[in-house]
Amino acid sequence: MARKLIEVALPLKAINEASAREKSIRHGHPSALHLWWARRPLAAARAVLFAQLVDDPSAHPELFPTEEAQHVERERLFRILEDLVVWENTTNEGVLKRARAEIERSWRLTCAEHADDPRAAELYNPDVLPAFHDPFAGGGAIPLEAQRLGLESYASDLNPVAVLINKAMIEIPPRFAHRPPVNPESRQRTTTGAYRGAQGLAEDVRYYGALLKSLAYEKLSSYYPPIRVTPEMVETRPDLRPHQGQDLTVIAYLWARTVKSPDPAYHDVDVPLVASFALSTKAGKEVWVEHVIDENRTGYHFEVRLGPVPEGAKRGTMQRSGGGTCILSQAPMPFTYLRSEGRAGRMGTRLMAIVCEGPRGRIYLNPTDEQEQRARNTNPSWKPEMDLPSNTRDFKTPLYGLTTYGDLFTPRQLLTLTTFSDLLDDVRDTVRKDAVAADFVDDDSGLANAGSGARAGRVPSPV
Ligand SMILES: C[S@@+](CC[C@H](N)C(=O)[O-])C[C@H]1O[C@@H](n2cnc3c(N)ncnc32)[C@H](O)[C@@H]1O
Repeated sequence: MARKLIEVALPLKAINEASAREKSIRHGHPSALHLWWARRPLAAARAVLFAQLVDDPSAHPELFPTEEAQHVERERLFRILEDLVVWENTTNEGVLKRARAEIERSWRLTCAEHADDPRAAELYNPDVLPAFHDPFAGGGAIPLEAQRLGLESYASDLNPVAVLINKAMIEIPPRFAHRPPVNPESRQRTTTGAYRGAQGLAEDVRYYGALLKSLAYEKLSSYYPPIRVTPEMVETRPDLRPHQGQDLTVIAYLWARTVKSPDPAYHDVDVPLVASFALSTKAGKEVWVEHVIDENRTGYHFEVRLGPVPEGAKRGTMQRSGGGTCILSQAPMPFTYLRSEGRAGRMGTRLMAIVCEGPRGRIYLNPTDEQEQRARNTNPSWKPEMDLPSNTRDFKTPLYGLTTYGDLFTPRQLLTLTTFSDLLDDVRDTVRKDAVAADFVDDDSGLANAGSGARAGRVPSPV
């Protein structure tokens, strides 16, 4: 086999720079599609594939007889590679065509080299590039780039999340390539020019995503009420003055898990298990939560504080080794105690702080009884009853009595998640109707059966 470019040299500076830059790119990047914790930069995947598929000039002394000629040719390939890794060129057909032409050229030379192979007709067809398969595809960077470089690309993985990501990136978009969107809004708009690649599909994803969001908002907004900044709140928190009278949108509720205090004097009090009370450690913008113990020492409440975080607050009430400490009595709460409390059904939750969206970043507010009750008094219509794996090395919560998937969520989270998944059915029916109106074939093949008609608006099964 001819020596490949990757075996000799690579323009590493350009590849490294493009890979590092990609970390801060969100718009249009697969990282915005779904979280994947071991994602590889597309630039690196693209570069490595190109350099593995393209011959090094030294492999062809008949074409590049001197070292000087080889050097000049290698530099030419480097320029193509340097253009190829730039994020802005990801969909630049001119740049991609140049790269594909080099890959095809090397492939034709490989085929010529193996013309005498008994299986040459099957394995070395100069008009068909070899197919590509990544059996451990993860976030799909490599198969996506292989497809971009013109190879028929396959991906597989043990993890169903990875399979879903790869289906969404590599398998489904080509099925709808160059087709206009089906949603009524885009269809009404008079468009100039045809839809290229996945542009039509992308418009549909945006439209139906927004539809799903607005339907969910209608059903759920009353469960997530905004918080009005009152004059009383401003009295203790002057930083809130600019927002007085405004309704702030909540973006997160921070909860602490609790157990009953092990000290008999406080056995009725649910004390918090918190790794750290620091909410923001950004210099000049520190925020933390103080647990304020009631005067008669029968309970406590949480208050948000601004300013440097005291050491005790940084530490919280839980240590990695050893377990917890009761905030009222300082009694130790070893893991054996926490686990037995959990299994006895005495592990609870307490709202610790509320995070709102402000014009210049997050605003942290004290929890209120009303907010806490609203989260608790929610009745989801469904709860996943399936048991978590009994593997205490990787799944710790069963040790604490949280044995099913449903136990990991608050009732309000369950309501939200089930609302979204129920609405998906309605939106799917709308997509199908719109696709029929847009002249898609109304066959019975959903996405899972390799369909590309109106019915393919169906959500595929992840495996
Ligand atoms: C390091 S990740 C791959 C990262 C990927 N190249 C990317 O750019 O995101 C390795 C992947 O191998 C998968 N895996 C591990 N063992 C496997 C097996 N026996 N069969 C299939 N996939 C497996 C894991 O689920 C994981 O997604």
